Amino acid sequence: MDFHIMTLFPDMVRDGLNTSILARAAQRELISINTYNIRDYTTDKHKKVDDYTYGGGAGMLMQAQPVFDCYAAITAAQRTRQRIRTIYVTPQGKCFHQEMARELASEEQLIFLCGHYEGVDERVLEEIVTDYISIGDYVLTGGELAAMVMVDAIARLVPGVLNNHDSAETESFTDHLLEYPQYSRPEVWHDRRVPEILLSGDHAKVDAWRLEQSIARTKERRPDLYERYMAEHPGKRK
Ligand code: ADE
Repeated sequence: MDFHIMTLFPDMVRDGLNTSILARAAQRELISINTYNIRDYTTDKHKKVDDYTYGGGAGMLMQAQPVFDCYAAITAAQRTRQRIRTIYVTPQGKCFHQEMARELASEEQLIFLCGHYEGVDERVLEEIVTDYISIGDYVLTGGELAAMVMVDAIARLVPGVLNNHDSAETESFTDHLLEYPQYSRPEVWHDRRVPEILLSGDHAKVDAWRLEQSIARTKERRPDLYERYMAEHPGKRK
């Protein structure tokens, strides 16, 4: 899967995503992370990419021309004739979640546009953007961190990126439940014992215990998710 990220800070995005699991996935050519400096596409002789907003108001706006030319260069270089989904990361978008990550992971290519200053000229957004997505109800100084969060969450769902195939199946948010508590060696640490059932070797009992723990944890920490789970599993309510 190929990620294309349009940004004014390509180093930040490249450095942030080129570590650990994603770096290994890129080496194995399961994913590619391509960054494009929007400033390289401006036709302004001073390399300017922003200007004042019509109608007044504080702050500067990213102009349409460099953003559009950057986008056009990316799409022209791809072999596909299909329109590539283009995500504008913005607090004005739909809130990102695991199901969205799963759905986006089925695309072969994705383009991300990271905004800065007070935003981006609306006209270029109308021409290129297919999805408006936020990572939460708070405002960041730019879209880079949001795009990095999304790329990370999507890339790890690309087949082969995680070694252990199970780990994307049983983790938090699968079936609207949070993941159960987990323990490693030693059996006793600070006088706390690993739950006995996990040492029993009885897989059916372990699975039942884990599901019970997942439900209890979700109920306590994320009552909104718990209600969704219960609505889909009416037999579980005690
Ligand atoms: N840019 C600034 N804040 C953002 C947010 N919360 N989500 C996505 N992009 C953003």
